[in-house]
Amino acid sequence: MNNRIPTSIVIFGASGDLTQRKLVPSFFNLFRKRKTPRELNIVGYGWTPFTNEQFREHLHHGLKEYASFEFSEEEWSLFAPHLYYSRGKYDDKAGFEKLSAYLDKLEAGDANRLYYMAIPPRLFPDILSNLDITHQLKENGGWRRVVVEKPFGTDLATARKLNGQIHKVLKEDQIYRIDHYLGKETVQNILFTRFANTIFEPLWNRNYIDSVQITVSEEVGVGHRGGYYDGIGVLRDMFQNHLLQLVTLVAMEPPASFNADALRNEKVKVLSAIQPIREQEIAENTVRAQYWGYRSEPDVHKNSSTPTYAAMRLFINNWRWKGVPFYLRSGKNMAEKQTQIIIRFKEPPLAMFPMPPGQKMTPNMLVLYLQPDEGVHLRFEAKAPDTVAETRSVDMEFHYAESFGPTAIPEAYERLLLDAIQGDASLFTRADEVEMAWGLIDPILQAWETSQTPPLAAYEAGTWGPSLADSLLARDGRNWMHEEASHMLPT
Ligand code: BG6
Repeated sequence: MNNRIPTSIVIFGASGDLTQRKLVPSFFNLFRKRKTPRELNIVGYGWTPFTNEQFREHLHHGLKEYASFEFSEEEWSLFAPHLYYSRGKYDDKAGFEKLSAYLDKLEAGDANRLYYMAIPPRLFPDILSNLDITHQLKENGGWRRVVVEKPFGTDLATARKLNGQIHKVLKEDQIYRIDHYLGKETVQNILFTRFANTIFEPLWNRNYIDSVQITVSEEVGVGHRGGYYDGIGVLRDMFQNHLLQLVTLVAMEPPASFNADALRNEKVKVLSAIQPIREQEIAENTVRAQYWGYRSEPDVHKNSSTPTYAAMRLFINNWRWKGVPFYLRSGKNMAEKQTQIIIRFKEPPLAMFPMPPGQKMTPNMLVLYLQPDEGVHLRFEAKAPDTVAETRSVDMEFHYAESFGPTAIPEAYERLLLDAIQGDASLFTRADEVEMAWGLIDPILQAWETSQTPPLAAYEAGTWGPSLADSLLARDGRNWMHEEASHMLPT
């Protein structure tokens, strides 16, 4: 639809962290790169009393603190007049009528509107219904889109309910469910590595791949987010969305075209082929743990059993992946911040070269470093010079910073916000995708929340998690490969 008319972005939750740290810095950077629509209004909505001037000052302060780019005061002074504030409650129609009148005045005619829900999901139905009854979702003259932040529900039932409520007032193609991992350059690059090259794809299957490991470890604990995190835990916070999204991108078939539905259809097929972990298989396939000291974090229950770490083994029952384990793990307060995908290839069928007794050939590995030190490394064997038949593992390495410059990677939100404005939903999750992901996580959550199996292990902050997670792989004769992989990082 028409992008020549003004575009208004309305942010619900305007005084919150996300607005100050991510959303406004991303809009500002897009504006600096001249990627935003020419006529742009960004209107914050919330209950904090701000004048326009105070709201701008609050955001300016946030930019100085959190922006990942340098900017000049002149650039800010060009951007600031696009920012406005309208005060109101989420459950009060009057506030929405005021907002509507304010937007009408700013837009002075037809306009597009993007409503951004930077609020906890419980507030979402009220906002949606107030937007609806004040006629702000009607597409007359411009488009209306809604961006929904995660978490999208807290289990399958709540996600379904939320989808039902949204679908009453919006069509699916007006809904942009955000998973910020999909906005990361390196996550998008998974598809480019696979489908813009011919050398990987022929090997990308059960005939050549032994196993896949996905690690999303964080060095920080829950910090000041205890109130949100406690009771939610790592499965809802990281697995239902980010980790399962990474699995779909690694495992999907090439889509027929690079458009939103073709892409998302393939992701849904992967999710539907993942073998659900049944109750009696939970202990064998999942590990949960909590870091020492979690219970003393602010706003955390003193005897909380919320897991801050999880590991699991998944299988995908289709022709490409049957029998190949996908090992997933994620946790807070771990040794390093690291997001990486390791594709471990099978060993050569025949050990042709004489090896010292007990030593096996090292398998080849393709490591996708999603963050930090973004890049792709390929590890293979070479003959060690001046020996008769010794091999050594060597790496071919691609680092984004070297190839594209140290500041080449933009904030994930920039891409996602721009796509929502341009109407490209490829990097957003569709209703069926979200529900299917919950369908896989739900049985694990239920089992964890109603029994002691597996036990909630404890791990020291600054480590790679509980030893139980090592056993998960050891039973299959494998091990987590962070140490091996990290020596591939440049020194
Ligand atoms: C968020 C989670 O979705 O992702 C946080 O709610 C987590 O708990 C964050 O810290 C990690 O994102 P990133 O981009 O730092 O890997």
